[in-house]
Amino acid sequence: MKPVRTLLTALILGGSIGLAVPASAEMAFGNRADTELATSLWALMEYKGLVGEGAVMTRPYKGMPPHGMILELIEMPVSLQGHTGPLIVKRNYGGDGISVDDVINDPGRYLQAVTVMLKREPGYDPDNHDWFYVKYDARGRVMKNPKGVPLAGRVAKGMQTGCIACHGTASGDDFVFNHDRYK
Ligand code: HEC
Repeated sequence: MKPVRTLLTALILGGSIGLAVPASAEMAFGNRADTELATSLWALMEYKGLVGEGAVMTRPYKGMPPHGMILELIEMPVSLQGHTGPLIVKRNYGGDGISVDDVINDPGRYLQAVTVMLKREPGYDPDNHDWFYVKYDARGRVMKNPKGVPLAGRVAKGMQTGCIACHGTASGDDFVFNHDRYK
């Protein structure tokens, strides 16, 4: 087969069985597989009462940039696509002069983003402890960076700033700031 035809066949086959085409397979984040997993994860989190209407509330605490003025943190193991791993959900609240009590009394009004880390199967991102990151808006849509790339997957891998670069500085070398349980 001529090279061009081989490439076309590969693209068609790849598309029809749902494989990413080579260009997007090289992207560390924001490709179709990443956004699809992020969408499934939001549905699972809704089902578990971690996000959405009637989600379980914890006592929020004062935070700092980049995550927000007031935060909530919830963790549990979840199973998704045949793998079970820890999920860390951070709700990020903001608004002029808001207090912890404002958030407890009307969380939906101040929720600005939900940032999550899901530990995936070994080999997903061995350099960075296999974490899958997502930033959702309050309604569960995957947010995008200024270049329009969805913030889902190995977010900003290899870049100087962003989820991985910053979380790589967390103590315990586990990419988690809050504790060192996943060392
Ligand atoms: C400039 C540094 C920085 C960047 C960039 C950053 N984070 Fe964080 N993140 C933190 C810090 C510091 C904490 C712990 C303090 C807190 O609660 O805000 C944290 C906490 C978290 C937690 C709770 C688990 C933990 O590590 O304690 C999650 C989940 C999280 N971030 C997700 C994300 C996602 C997703 C992104 C990218 C879209 C991101 N973060 C980008 C600094 C950062």
